[in-house]
Amino acid sequence: MRRKLAAGNWKMNGTASSLAEVQALVSLHCAPSVDILICPPATLIAQAAGLCANSPIMIGAQDCHAAASGAHTGDISAPMLADTGAGAVILGHSERRENHNETSDLVAQKAVAAHAAGLIAVVCLGESLAQREGAQTLDVIAEQLAASLPDGTTGANTVIAYEPIWAIGTGLTPSLAQIGEVHDFIRSRLSERFGVQAAEDFRLLYGGSVKPENAAEIFATSNVDGALVGGASLKSEDFSPIIRALEA
Ligand code: PGA
Repeated sequence: MRRKLAAGNWKMNGTASSLAEVQALVSLHCAPSVDILICPPATLIAQAAGLCANSPIMIGAQDCHAAASGAHTGDISAPMLADTGAGAVILGHSERRENHNETSDLVAQKAVAAHAAGLIAVVCLGESLAQREGAQTLDVIAEQLAASLPDGTTGANTVIAYEPIWAIGTGLTPSLAQIGEVHDFIRSRLSERFGVQAAEDFRLLYGGSVKPENAAEIFATSNVDGALVGGASLKSEDFSPIIRALEA
């Protein structure tokens, strides 16, 4: 059985005072029946990981470099993230793909680096509005999925997040049928590549305007094993009900 996962992506939000939100989640969720991952900005990983040291909550990062070390000013490597207390890293978020010209090939290289450092890679996929309206969604997902996952990918070292770009931070969400269609499709593509049994191990998250109000119905959708949550993960009073909806 796949263990469900509630993952929060703080993006470029949060300073030391925001650690109170991590502390609140630690207090509220001592023995969760689902996995919980919080990905604060890199500046807060060490302190957040310290707060979660005796908690089941995992702290993660939002990106890493593909190399382990070297002359890459401003970048952070996967071994550095592991060293600072991260257990996972988001890779290929659409904001990285769009704003930093990240290709699926680069995402795959980063996933190799993450796996080598013992980090779970949370690999993001998603279509633009134009691609959705042009009926290209499944083709885009197929291409991103194939090219973003390196050989050696397993359900233990990788989580897949389907995040339609037009749903991120907009308050818009696909219909439940649309979410289910893409998640079923991802599972079937994983089966073709890795085998039916291995494909069953992958957690498939939905992301894009997940809120306390819509979480339960999204979590009841076919092949949805949790969520990657942006805005609603910043405050424990919003993220906690989403975790509870996943536990229900
Ligand atoms: P959102 O962001 O929940 O604010 O839409 C999701 C994400 O980008 O991971």
